[in-house]
Amino acid sequence: THVVTENCIKCKFTDCVDVCPVDCFREGPNFLVIDPDECIDCAVCIPECPANAIFAEEDVPEDQQAFIELNAELAPVFTSISRAKDPLPDAEDWNGKTDKLQYLER
Ligand code: F3S
Repeated sequence: THVVTENCIKCKFTDCVDVCPVDCFREGPNFLVIDPDECIDCAVCIPECPANAIFAEEDVPEDQQAFIELNAELAPVFTSISRAKDPLPDAEDWNGKTDKLQYLER
């Protein structure tokens, strides 16, 4: 599967959603996740993310490993999204900020 990591939080650009051939993204208030049961590992979403937040599971950085389980946990809770929408208002300011996990809304 592919995994959305911390830098999506408070950005939520959603460019990833438009290219997904299987609509496996799930949307929360300020973060998206990938449903690991639906992702076909096509990888087309990776270069679309302005926040570089998406990785193949085997490439998830060491300090982002918790997001593998977090995507699986939140996928059934979040809502299906299949069309891109406007990013969160301060997305550009939050892009690249660290320690954003504390701001994750469920
Ligand atoms: Fe998040 Fe990047 Fe998609 S910021 S919503 S994973 S384009």
